[in-house]
Amino acid sequence: MEFQAVKGTRDFYPEQMALRNWLTETWRRVSIRNGFVEFDAPIIEYLDLFRVKSGDEIVSQLFSFTDRGGRELALRPEITPTLARMVNARIHSLPRPIKWFSIPRLFRAENPQRGRLREFFQWNVDIIGSGETLADAECIFTAVDLLAEVGLTPQDVAVRIGSRPLTVAALRRVGVQEAGMEAALAALDKRPNLSAEDFARLAAEAGIAPEGLAQLCAFQDAGDLQAAAEALGGGKEVEEETAKLRALMEQLGHMGAGEYCRLDLRIVRGLAYYTGVVYEIHDAGGRLRAIAGGGRYDNLLEVLGGPEVGATGFGMGDVVLTILLAEKHKLPDVSARLDCFVVSAAPGLGPAVLEVVGALRRRGVVADYSFKRTSLSRQLKEANRRRADYAVIVRADGLAVKDLRTGQQREVCREELLADPGRHLS
Ligand code: HAM
Repeated sequence: MEFQAVKGTRDFYPEQMALRNWLTETWRRVSIRNGFVEFDAPIIEYLDLFRVKSGDEIVSQLFSFTDRGGRELALRPEITPTLARMVNARIHSLPRPIKWFSIPRLFRAENPQRGRLREFFQWNVDIIGSGETLADAECIFTAVDLLAEVGLTPQDVAVRIGSRPLTVAALRRVGVQEAGMEAALAALDKRPNLSAEDFARLAAEAGIAPEGLAQLCAFQDAGDLQAAAEALGGGKEVEEETAKLRALMEQLGHMGAGEYCRLDLRIVRGLAYYTGVVYEIHDAGGRLRAIAGGGRYDNLLEVLGGPEVGATGFGMGDVVLTILLAEKHKLPDVSARLDCFVVSAAPGLGPAVLEVVGALRRRGVVADYSFKRTSLSRQLKEANRRRADYAVIVRADGLAVKDLRTGQQREVCREELLADPGRHLS
């Protein structure tokens, strides 16, 4: 019987693990320099937490089960409801705005395909306690900061920014009632991936009248805010919401992230809880699934039993980002290296090798040696295979250090090497 990893999951052999660690560390470093602090939570939650406001799509993808006490539980498909739950529990003691990030392992029973798996990692960056567009700008800037950090330019990727309230206004204008809003939004969210005929069919199923489609598409395809406002026939709410988008774009411009960002009113987002600006990050060619998605969700904390409080943020998965970086040859070389490999020049020096290895490791040097008692040349070959920068050669009468990149070799005093290895191994 041969066992395989479960469908849609990945084994992380050391090479893949090194890449995952590189990405996680980069996410963490960028979060911290943007003023966010890290949190985490259990991988299992009560099923109801996701039923309340995440929307039908995500609920249909839940891995859920009943525990021995009859409780309905789910593996978390996202961390935003958990974040809202945690903040609600301490809402009066947490100083606002709350700037938190997390790198959870998530599970969604999706049909596995390029860029979509059943288990993945997702960087989450959220600000709770502010309704200002500055908070949205701050999250988007942090995403852009990450993109630049990993070497992606505005020629490679774009943050496409839309608006839930404007989209809702467009739907109302073509006769969609509140009760049918969630279904209509879900249909619009799928439009970029569908032909005009397929979209028309889906829109009809979602209760959007065929006469309204042209008007709706004119709004979604508007190239700038003025054209969008005109497509919506103006009005106070439209003015307010377009003013917010304009302010957001300006703030992103001031922060130097403007080149990465553009208005795109076709961005609707699949999750039900968004209430304001929404955005997705896509590769410039638009061939891959979204790299990240987020937006403002001002009602979620209240719906989960807390106060009405502004909240905004995004999630960026590891899968699509890694595919894009590989395509652009921008994945770093993260293969394991050693500072030094300790070798013996003659038989009988095994204990001396162990002494040197032990002393170097205690000093923080990444050091290893061969378990096999082989010739010096074989040990040096192993040192090269292990990608050691230096070989420390243990002889009966002293030590030598060989730079394996240049081939240069020199004698060193044992006490000096062990007292200050950095001076001799760099
Ligand atoms: P989401 O759009 O469902 O948003 O996911 C955000 C990102 O996670 C996607 O753009 C994608 O990179 C990645 N992702 C989602 N599903 C999968 C999958 N099955 N396999 C691989 N990657 C995936 C949310 O999850 C929101 N909770 C984000 C958020 C945070 N909104 C506000 N704060």
